[in-house]
Amino acid sequence: MDSILYSVRMRASLDGKHCCGAERIVGRDAVEQVMQELTTRALQRGSAPDNIVVHVDSLANLDILTCKALDVTTVDCSDVMSSRSAAIAVLKCCGVSESAAGHAVECLRKGPAPAGAVMRGAVLMDARTGDRYEDDKERGVRASRFDWTSDALVEIRRILEHAGLTHFRTREALALATKIAGAPGVVAELCWSDDGDYTAGYVASRKTGYVRFPALKDRGDPKGGRVIFLIDRADLGACIEYLRSKPLLITQAGSCRGPMKDPEYLAELSHVLRNSE
Ligand code: COA
Ligand code: AMP
Repeated sequence: MDSILYSVRMRASLDGKHCCGAERIVGRDAVEQVMQELTTRALQRGSAPDNIVVHVDSLANLDILTCKALDVTTVDCSDVMSSRSAAIAVLKCCGVSESAAGHAVECLRKGPAPAGAVMRGAVLMDARTGDRYEDDKERGVRASRFDWTSDALVEIRRILEHAGLTHFRTREALALATKIAGAPGVVAELCWSDDGDYTAGYVASRKTGYVRFPALKDRGDPKGGRVIFLIDRADLGACIEYLRSKPLLITQAGSCRGPMKDPEYLAELSHVLRNSE
């Protein structure tokens, strides 16, 4: 990758409704090609967008953060209800209270925006009380300006494909979750998509890595979103600033294991956490 890096971001909408978005961080020699790839991606969606915006910003004067990706574990539960219970158990291991974890699941189940709609970004939630901190409950907060380096991208593709995780969403959600897990004050994240065809979701944190559940919702369910849990409200400003604007390159892939059954995984997790206290 050459020295001047650019953030290349694509968003597409139809009748004013967002339908697709993706982003990369690349050297200047790759900017045109990546603009084309992201445009092609917007046009390949089932419903043709009537608006595609590709934004390119130089990152020349900014510090680029680097990190290793979260490790991935797939946890196989018998149904959506047991997946959500296991997700709550994982959140509790990360320091989220039972009531906040339950509240987050209910928010995503009902739709976290007013009147049960989906949000344009994530909920920011107090990990102890379940209070919500976003100023705008339709918009929430979006994490942006992150990508894999080319070497890490090759490696994570190989590792995920070897585990049968071939959907590009897994790789992109893992990158987003890795950025979110590193934010000041963040102890965990819960996510499932609002795409009715995509039932997988996850709990992610620095403590547990990226814990993936193949069915956190039923097929056809259009509700979903992200909840980011903060342990200390004092970190709110720094957290939002980091999520939105600090560029992050993931330089190293993590491991990928599973599927494991939920009782086996939860027993292992509590054992590991007890021994690390
Ligand atoms: N849902 C709904 N609307 C969205 C949206 C989303 N996910 N992302 C962008 N928009 C629309 C909104 O109207 C937004 O205005 P708002 O800030 O008032 O909500 C407008 O586009 C501008 O958004 P912004 O984030 O400033 O645009 P951008 O061009 O800088 O970046 C994205 C757009 C989509 C690339 C970026 O927001 C993003 O989500 N990046 C992460 C993509 C990714 O890897 N996701 C992984 C999913 S598995
Ligand atoms: P997706 O995984 O793209 O289906 O998105 C699921 C939900 O996550 C959306 O409904 C938004 O509420 C939220 N979201 C989308 N993009 C972002 C982002 N960049 N940062 C934080 N939350 C997001």
